[in-house]
Amino acid sequence: MRNILVTSALPYANGSIHIGHLVEYIQTDIWVRFQNMRGNQCIYVCADDSHGTPIMLRAQKENITPEQLIERYSIEHQQDFADFSIRFDNYYSTHSNENQQLSDTIYNRLNDAGHITRKVIKQAYDPVKEMFLPDRFIKGDCPKCGAPDQYGDGCEVCSSTYAPTELKNAVSAVSGATPIEKESEHIFCKLQNFEDMLKTWTHGEHLQSEVSNKLDEWLDSGLQEWDISRDTPYFGFEIPDAPGKYYYVWWDAPVGYMASFQNLCEKRKDLSFDAYWDKNSQHELYHFIGKDIIYHHALFWPSMLEGAGFRKPSGIFVHGFLTVDGQKMSKSRGTFITARSYLNNLDPEYLRYYFATKLNGSFQDIDLNLDDFLLRVNSDLVGKVVNIASRCAGFIDKRFENKLAANCSEPGLYHDFIDMGTTIAQHYESRDYGKAMRDIMTLADRANQYIDEKKPWVLAKQEGMEQQVHDVCSLGLNLFRVLIAYLKPVLPDMAKKVETFLNIKPLNWDNYPVPLLSHSITKFKPLMTRVEKEDIEKMLDESKQDLQKELPAKATGATPNTTNSKQGSGDPIASEIQFDDFAKVDLRIAKIVKAEHVEGADKLLQLTLDIGNETRNVFAGIKSAYQPEELEGKLTVMVANLAPRKMRFGISEGMVLAAGPGGKDLWILHPDSGALPGMKVK
Ligand code: 2FM
Ligand code: ZN
Repeated sequence: MRNILVTSALPYANGSIHIGHLVEYIQTDIWVRFQNMRGNQCIYVCADDSHGTPIMLRAQKENITPEQLIERYSIEHQQDFADFSIRFDNYYSTHSNENQQLSDTIYNRLNDAGHITRKVIKQAYDPVKEMFLPDRFIKGDCPKCGAPDQYGDGCEVCSSTYAPTELKNAVSAVSGATPIEKESEHIFCKLQNFEDMLKTWTHGEHLQSEVSNKLDEWLDSGLQEWDISRDTPYFGFEIPDAPGKYYYVWWDAPVGYMASFQNLCEKRKDLSFDAYWDKNSQHELYHFIGKDIIYHHALFWPSMLEGAGFRKPSGIFVHGFLTVDGQKMSKSRGTFITARSYLNNLDPEYLRYYFATKLNGSFQDIDLNLDDFLLRVNSDLVGKVVNIASRCAGFIDKRFENKLAANCSEPGLYHDFIDMGTTIAQHYESRDYGKAMRDIMTLADRANQYIDEKKPWVLAKQEGMEQQVHDVCSLGLNLFRVLIAYLKPVLPDMAKKVETFLNIKPLNWDNYPVPLLSHSITKFKPLMTRVEKEDIEKMLDESKQDLQKELPAKATGATPNTTNSKQGSGDPIASEIQFDDFAKVDLRIAKIVKAEHVEGADKLLQLTLDIGNETRNVFAGIKSAYQPEELEGKLTVMVANLAPRKMRFGISEGMVLAAGPGGKDLWILHPDSGALPGMKVK
C-alpha cells in the first residue's frame, strides 16, 4: 500500500469558486478517489488562503473584520466543493495556529541557517490610506500604448509588463490619491542559496518535462532574493523578529498544506505528521496546481522546505487554464460561471465527466465548449453507459424477479472488459483521464453492440428463449458494473446509485473482476437525465446576473470613504450592463426621519428612511459629510429593492445614493426639491 498526501492550490478567501478553479479540484479529486479505490492510503487536504491585502481591503469595504470575511468564504467554498463531490480529508484555513507555528518554524530555521537577509527598498505608498500599495492596487495609463485604467503590473490592452512607477497618471485604487515613493526595510529569502539544489531537483522526475523546461529559463537567468515581508497594515502573521512586518501571503500559503495536514493529524490518531513531512519520509507528496503558480511551488516552496529540513514534494502536477467556448471566461458573456450558478442548473457529474474527457496530464489549456459538453454527456453517459442498464434491467425485473443468471454466457467478452482495467488504471495514474474515458466508452460501445446483436426484446417474444434473455441481460448488467467501477473516480454519485441498484458492496479496483451470478438486484431507477440546452442557457443567464450582484458599490452604503482627490475616486468603471439590468434597480425618494451615530463605526450613520408606505433601516457611509441632526427631514434617493445585508452593526435594508468625491463633499437631495417619499426615481 502506498501512503500518499495530495493537495490542490488553496483558493483565496475573498472570492467564490468558479468553474476555472474546478478543473483543478475535480482533477485532483478523481486522482485521489482512484488511488483509494486501488487500496492505497491517499489523503487529500486543502484550506482557504486567507491572508493578504485584497482580503484586508475587501473586509474593510464590507465593514466586517477579515476573520468574518474568511469565515463566510470558508463556509461557501466548502459547500461548493461538497456539492461537486470533491471530498477532502481536511479543509482548513491558513489563518490558523498550526500555520502560524509552522510558518515561524520554517522562517526561524532559514534565518538561523543564514538564508534570510534584510534591506531597505522603495515602494509605492498611499499617503491617504497610509499603506504601501501592491502593484494591483495602482492604476493609471499604460506607459507603452497609453491605454487608461491599467494595473500597475501589466497592461491588459497591449500585454506589456512594467513597474508600477512607469504608469502615467498613477492613482491608488484604494483611495484615489497619487502614490508617493516611500522607503521601508524588507525581509528577503536568499533563493540563490538553493540554486544548485533546485537545478537537480527540477530534473529529478518530480515535474512534467514541459514544466522543467520552463524552470530552466528562470534558473538559467539566476534567482533573485525573494521579498517575504509586507508592512503593516496587512492581514497575516507578524514575523517573529520584525514588529510591524508580516509574512507575505505566499510565504504562509504553501505552509497551509502542512498545517491542514497537521490539523488532520490532531483529529486522526492513525496519521503521523512526521511520517509524511520528515526529511527522510518515504511517503509520497503531490501538489496539483495551475500553470500560473509554478514559480511559487517549484522554486520557492522546495527552497523553504530544504532550508527548514523538511522533505520536498514527490511531484508537482501542473494543469492549464480553462476557456469557455474557446475564450477566456467573461463576466459580460455569462461564461464566468461560479460553482453555485452551475450547481443551480446542472448535474455536477456532467462537468466532472466532461473535464475528465479533456484532461491529459499536460498543462495545455482546456476548453469547455458548451455544445460539445451537451453532446458528449448525452451521447456517452446517457446514450451509452446508462443505456446498457436501462435496456437490460426491465427484463431482469419483469421476467426473473430481479435475479441475475447463474452463469456468464460470454466469458471472453467479460474478460476483455476486465483486462482493460490495467490500461485504464495506468491512464488514471498518469492523469491522462481523457484516454481512460475513451477506453471506457469503447467498452460501452461493445456492450451496446452485444445487446444490439442479441436483441433480447426479440428473443423475449420467442418461445423457449427465456434462458437466452436471462443470459444476455445478466451479462449486460455485469458489463455495466465493470464500466461503473472504471468510472467511479469520475462519477462517485452515479457509482453509489449503481451499487444500490446492483445490491453490491462499494466498488473498488479489486472487487469487480468476478461477475455477479445468481445475484439479486434491486429495482432499476433512472440514473442520469440528459443535459438540456435550456438548463445551460439558464446557467449563463444566472452568471450574468451574479455579475450585477458583485459590481463594486458606488453608493454610500457600507463602502469605504473616498477621498477628495483631484484625480477622482480612482475606482475603475465597472463592466458594461444592459438596460434591462439597470431597469431592475428600484430607486425611490426616501425621507430621512432619523439619523444616528453607530457605536464603533467611524464611517457609518444609521438612517431610518420613510419611503411612503414603509420605513427602512439603512447604514450609510456618509458620516464624513454630515452630522446626524443635519440629515433629519432631508430627502435622499435609495435603492429600495436591494436584498437586506447583514452587517456588523445590524441589517441594512437598502442603499442610499449620494454624489460627490467623498469626505465632506457628499450631497443628498434638498428638501425643497418637490419630491415625495416613495416616489419612483425615473
Ligand atoms: O493562486 C492562488 O489562488 C493562491 N491562493 C494559491 C495558493 S496555493 C498554496 F501555495 F497555498
Ligand atoms: Zn498597453
